[in-house]
Amino acid sequence: MWSVRMRASRFENGKEIHVSGAEGIFEQNQIGRVLRRLLIRAFDHKRGKAQRIVFTVEEIVEPIHEVKVLRVSTLEFNSPKEAKEAVKRKLESIGVSKRAIFAAFEVLESCSLRGASLIDYLTGERLERDRERGIRVSRLQMEQGLRKRLLRQFRRLSAEPQRVIEALTLASKVASFDGVVAELCISDNPDYTTGYISSREFGYLRITNIKEHGDSRGGRVFFVKGSINLDEIYSYLERTPVIVK
Ligand code: COA
Repeated sequence: MWSVRMRASRFENGKEIHVSGAEGIFEQNQIGRVLRRLLIRAFDHKRGKAQRIVFTVEEIVEPIHEVKVLRVSTLEFNSPKEAKEAVKRKLESIGVSKRAIFAAFEVLESCSLRGASLIDYLTGERLERDRERGIRVSRLQMEQGLRKRLLRQFRRLSAEPQRVIEALTLASKVASFDGVVAELCISDNPDYTTGYISSREFGYLRITNIKEHGDSRGGRVFFVKGSINLDEIYSYLERTPVIVK
């Protein structure tokens, strides 16, 4: 199997700015088709015109882990205020402290990392090694049969079912790491106002109207146990190949 990854960037005052990224794990005979699809995607992104596109095609030599997909449900709200209150209640119900939830919203509303923030679910302390980079989730793929079935199902939920599939794949990998208690995600796309919270306990909960239209702030926060081994979580989320089934 092969890890195929694409990242597109543009330049502003000599500085490279990330535009989009996408990836998957494929058989060798699928690579040509996948590269073509990723190229179309790199050129088509709404967050600005790509000026550099980097493809990585890498054989996976280590064992590929299999994890279970989270179950999906949607909670609908009329305003960000209502949505955030519900998110807080849900996270508190599984033991995430008020302090940690406050710290998470502060990160999501004030800074943009190149990855996700790691927050101690009790103390609210930020644990990622580099506060500008954060931790990323890579080397992941949803099993093809499941992907097709869910795509049909999600077409009823969202105008962009592919986006839901990708986020669900990522959230399922994140939730499968033992020290992760929950995840909170708000898209940084100003037109996409549905976020999610996820955990092994309550699955993947889509949250409508989590932010106002036009707001380009967003990101991901992983609430984790203070006892996690940082080397292990970085290695698992960033480098261990995972198929979600
Ligand atoms: N946001 C911002 N910058 C990013 C980025 C992202 N999501 N992914 C990569 N970059 C930039 C960074 O500058 C990075 O350098 P850094 O490690 O110092 O931050 C540089 O590209 C190289 O990153 P690398 O991880 O080596 O890229 P890659 O070629 O292996 O591609 C992606 C990785 C882009 C495919 C992967 O990050 C991705 O986006 N996968 C899709 C799933 C997803 O959304 N994951 C991110 C969730 S946190």
